[in-house]
Amino acid sequence: IEDKTVVITGGAGFIGSHIADALVSENDVRVLDDCSTGYQENVPEGAELVSGDVRDEDVVSAAIEDADLVFHEAAEVSVQRSVEQPKRSNEVNVGGTLNVLEAARDADARVVLASSCAIYGVPDSVPLSETERLGPRSPYGVDKAAIDSYAEVYHEQYGLETVALRYFNAYGPRQTAGEYSGVISIFLDQARRGEPITVEGEGDQTRDFIHVSDVVRANLAAATTDAVGESYNVGTGEETSVLTLAETVKRAADSDSDIVHVEGREGDIPRSVADLSKSRESLGYEPTVSLEEGLRTLVDE
Ligand code: UD1
Repeated sequence: IEDKTVVITGGAGFIGSHIADALVSENDVRVLDDCSTGYQENVPEGAELVSGDVRDEDVVSAAIEDADLVFHEAAEVSVQRSVEQPKRSNEVNVGGTLNVLEAARDADARVVLASSCAIYGVPDSVPLSETERLGPRSPYGVDKAAIDSYAEVYHEQYGLETVALRYFNAYGPRQTAGEYSGVISIFLDQARRGEPITVEGEGDQTRDFIHVSDVVRANLAAATTDAVGESYNVGTGEETSVLTLAETVKRAADSDSDIVHVEGREGDIPRSVADLSKSRESLGYEPTVSLEEGLRTLVDE
C-alpha cells in the first residue's frame, strides 16, 4: 500500500497506532482520535493527528473527505463498561461507525473496520467460523454485530468497499493496563508488580489471543483484497484458558505473584477460538506469533 491518503480512527490507541506505524512511511496517514484512551505519543512521526470524537459527524466527515482508505479502530472496547453504560457504548461504537461509513460513502473510500468475535456469544461449537449464528451476550457484542452487518449492507446497498475484521483477543505493546483493559495487559502488570493475578471465575473460559502484529497483517491484507463486503475472523486458531494464561504470564515475567480467583463476569463468553479457513483462503492471512513468543517479547519491552 503506497501513495494513499489513509485515515485511521483510533490511531492513537493500541491497534490503530500499530496500523499507523505500518503505513506512515509510504502513505499520507491521518489519525482521528479523541485521546480518551489513546495517547498522542503513540501516533508515529509523519502522521497527522486530528483531535476529535467519532460521535461528531462533522469532524468525521472532514477527516475522511479526501481519503482513499479508512481503518476504523476507534471504539469503546470494554465489554464490562458496555454492560455498565450500554447507551454510551452504542453511541460510540454504532453511531461512530455510521458516521465513518457515511463519510466513506461521500469520499468513495474503502473501509476496513474492527468487528469482534464477541458477536458470536456462546457458540454451539468451536472453532468459530464466520457462518456461526450470531448471538451477542453483551451490549458491546450487540454493537459489534450491528457494525459488522452495516459493513455488509453498505457494500450491498451502496457499493462501498467494506471489510469487517472479527478480532479475537488482541494483545501487545501499547495495550494499557487498567480496569477496563484486556486481560493480558492486566495480568502482566500484576505479575510485574508481584501483586496477585486475578483470575475471574474458575479460569476455564477460553480465548484466542492474537498478537497485534498479526492484527496489523490482517488489516493490510483487507485493504487490498478483492473479496470485499465480507467479514473475516482474525485470530490464531489456538485456544487458551484464562487460568493457563495466568500461569504462562507468571512464568514469562518470572514473577512470584500468587494466582487468585475472584468473582466471574456475568454473561462472560465461555469459549472462543477462531476457524481461520476463510481468512486464509480470501485474505491470505496467516498468524505468525505464538502466545509464548508474544508474551516473551512483551515482557522484554
Ligand atoms: C476483549 C476486548 C474486546 C474484544 C474481545 C474479543 C478488551 C478490554 N476487550 O473482550 O474489545 O472485542 O476481547 O473477544 O480488550 N479476566 C480475568 N481477570 C482479569 C481480567 C479479565 O480473569 O483481571 C477474564 C475475563 O473474565 C474474561 C477474559 O479474561 O473471561 C477476557 O477478558 P477481557 O480481556 O476483558 O476480554 P473480552 O471480554 O474477551
